[in-house]
Amino acid sequence: MAGGHHMTQIADARPAAFPPQHRGAQEAAVEDITCLPPGEGAWFTVIVPTRNEQDAVAVLLAQLAQSLVDVRAEVLFVDDSNDDTPQVIRESARRDGLAVRLLHRPAGSRRGGLAGAVVAGLKHARGSWAVVMDGDLQHPPELVARLVGIGESRRLDLVAGTRYDGGGSASGLADGYRRAVSGLANRFTKAMFPRRLARLSDPMSGFFAVRLSALNLETLNPVGFKILLELAVRQPRLQIAEVPFVFGARIAGESKASIREGVRFIRHLLRLRLLMLRRQVRKSSRQSSRIARVRRLAAFGAVGATGIFINTGALWLLSGGGHPHGHYLLAAVLATEASTTWNFVFTELLVFRGPKPGSVTGRGIRFYALNHLALLPRLPLLALLVEAFHANLLVANIITLMLLFLIRFVIADSAIYAMPENLPEIEKQPMRLSFDMTGVRPQPAVGSAVEQTSSSAVATTRNPSTRNQSATARYLPYRYSIDGVVTVGSQVPLKELEYFRAQWLGNDVDLSIRVGPVGGGGPRSRAVMTQHLSPPGITYQEHFGRLGANFRVNIGDKIEVTCSTGLARSPHVLYTNVIEALLRFISVSRGVILLHSACLELDGAGLLLSARTDTGKTGSVLKLLREHGARFLSDDMTIIDSTGRATAFPKPLTISHHTLRAVQTGDLTPAEWRRLKLQSRLHSKEGRDFGLVLAGLNIPIMGVNSLTQRIVPPPKYYVDRLVECNVIRNTVVKNLFVIERGEPQLSEIPFDEAIETLVVNTDDAYGFPPFRQMAPSIVIGADDYAELRRKERQILTQAMANIRVRGLASNTFSWADDIAALLAAEKQGSAPIVSAGSDLEAVAATA
Ligand code: GDD
Ligand code: MN
Repeated sequence: MAGGHHMTQIADARPAAFPPQHRGAQEAAVEDITCLPPGEGAWFTVIVPTRNEQDAVAVLLAQLAQSLVDVRAEVLFVDDSNDDTPQVIRESARRDGLAVRLLHRPAGSRRGGLAGAVVAGLKHARGSWAVVMDGDLQHPPELVARLVGIGESRRLDLVAGTRYDGGGSASGLADGYRRAVSGLANRFTKAMFPRRLARLSDPMSGFFAVRLSALNLETLNPVGFKILLELAVRQPRLQIAEVPFVFGARIAGESKASIREGVRFIRHLLRLRLLMLRRQVRKSSRQSSRIARVRRLAAFGAVGATGIFINTGALWLLSGGGHPHGHYLLAAVLATEASTTWNFVFTELLVFRGPKPGSVTGRGIRFYALNHLALLPRLPLLALLVEAFHANLLVANIITLMLLFLIRFVIADSAIYAMPENLPEIEKQPMRLSFDMTGVRPQPAVGSAVEQTSSSAVATTRNPSTRNQSATARYLPYRYSIDGVVTVGSQVPLKELEYFRAQWLGNDVDLSIRVGPVGGGGPRSRAVMTQHLSPPGITYQEHFGRLGANFRVNIGDKIEVTCSTGLARSPHVLYTNVIEALLRFISVSRGVILLHSACLELDGAGLLLSARTDTGKTGSVLKLLREHGARFLSDDMTIIDSTGRATAFPKPLTISHHTLRAVQTGDLTPAEWRRLKLQSRLHSKEGRDFGLVLAGLNIPIMGVNSLTQRIVPPPKYYVDRLVECNVIRNTVVKNLFVIERGEPQLSEIPFDEAIETLVVNTDDAYGFPPFRQMAPSIVIGADDYAELRRKERQILTQAMANIRVRGLASNTFSWADDIAALLAAEKQGSAPIVSAGSDLEAVAATA
């Protein structure tokens, strides 16, 4: 039998197109039937496991060839057939012009069946990605390149096709019976690994793309059909996304799924579960104190003892007085149902009283699974005791229960009730990512059998963007024109855009915001961000179906946002998380940028202030306005064109705790003042840091945000409410100061470094989920996210050409005074060129 390692060596040592008839019967080698043009490496390898698929592979290859035109891909068949499949593959490969390789595993060296074939394929794959798909056209060939494209562009490791989410469907499974079995097995499997499989709705899918460098092939040891399950459980660090697809009908031949495969699957699942269990037991024995464990053991024992009463009582009733006639084993099973329910309730209430991991249902499933697994050794033992030793049925039953008691405790204690092990990578990906291919045009069909498959390969579910809306549902009462660059219409008043109010605009705006139902279905275990490919758009759905703070963005000539009522009730959250992010990129497509910086005009020259959040920017702005006669353009986001001209964007200012000193008591009523003190605390840096921690967890973050903001609205005031000042429309920027806390210092910032800092500071403002997950899906016109970012940087670079950038550190909040003094001195021409580290006091004195 050829081991995987051995095979690799043979394949590499032999010339590329080794004639198949010379291959030794025992040593399976990869045969290069057709190759990519010389010098071209493969981007990805399509791995197709086949077993007696002679009637399907020709069509599969033809379809793959069509959808992989101009793609540097190779197809690798790992074949365990006894029919003519290899021959058909060779003939079709030469006809279709695809690079095709074949690893035919002769009878006797077909280790691991389907999963073993996939692992062998992964070992021989030459691309940087591999796509695994079935050979019977149940997996749509037109999605193959897309899976890799998504993975590559989004920097993911695994992109899995799913039949159980979004527009996916398992309709191609042979019959209702198989669909039901598959659905149940899916639920059961997910319940066994609630965290590791949280990001996969279809861990049994046989259709997925994986980044080869992210895989550790040595640790994989799958049995049967379920290689994806094995990957996801063993390698929880993989970054994952899903693509719903319609599992088509088999094109020819028959499924190899069988009762035998079902048994192998259960064996595989058990083995994986035991492996993880061993790790958990080892870990929890390191973590929890011995005394605490003994206490839990005692409590578990006490509950178990009452459970034995229940079990014995039930068995006595069911077996008609404890006599081993008739179906006493069945009676023992039923008695277990009763006592398991009893035990579960009291274990939940009395034994593990602290915080518990996961949901009651999830723990329930695992608890029941455990007690039923315990039946496997218990029933034969019971039969043995009763039949061979003529033991009393009730006594024998008690013996079997006691024997398994300790094992049951250890498992419950370390696997069901232990707080989840720390899997930071899963925490970092608290949202599921999904890519909706609905409406993506399938490749033109070749032959009638194919036509049928390819039309079913893509679901034609209703398209949300074209749903009919009544006239009132379409009306946009609030309209804004952002300096003529972008027009916005909204059904929700947007305080942030108040300054740009433009009621003369019609409904035909660049960006529309409407309120309506978004999302649906029941509660889900994780928020999901879905990117729709055609028509392009994004949907964000939270845990509680329609009740969540969900939104949908349709991206066409015009951008249409629909937000759920929950989100519409906090327009501020809607604005900062969704609308401003979109404005940022629409602006870029119009040749201007939204720079995260404050802008003032001082002595007739434009001045930008940039800083990390919560440095003291707003306070400095207020001080410059109040004490140095500056004029106001913006506090947070400034519109800048490529010539360095800035346009006002006066949003309400957020008053954080340390900004309070710049606000004078007389400006606000006493009630406002008291409220402000409280609000500014909640919405200060600590508040936001807390928000960031929340953002990493699996919670409905937008919903939590909007609720918080509704209870304690952030302290926001228009600038002229806080200080007397003029707002002006435009200015030409001459100076930019990056302010920071620290030992007083003034320093010239080199151009490249300045650009870098400004980009980082701008990203900082958008680092929050769900924007982080949404941004890469934004496409405007022909520009995708990467291109938009490139253009943004380009405009910034041009704009900065005539702007002098300096860093200014202070630990006494003196930025406003320092800057005013410095610029006044420079204007008079009396100040020497200030060098790094100069004494600011001296500079100020020359003014
Ligand atoms: N090399 C090899 N060796 N290939 C095999 C073997 C084997 O022992 N058994 C099956 N295959 C190939 C088939 O030729 C086909 O290309 C693919 O694996 C899937 O097998 P089917 O027999 O068509 O399976 P299915 O349609 O019932 O199962 C599908 O759904 C499962 C989840 O329910 C497949 O997509 C599976 O991969 C998936 O796990
Ligand atoms: Mn199949």
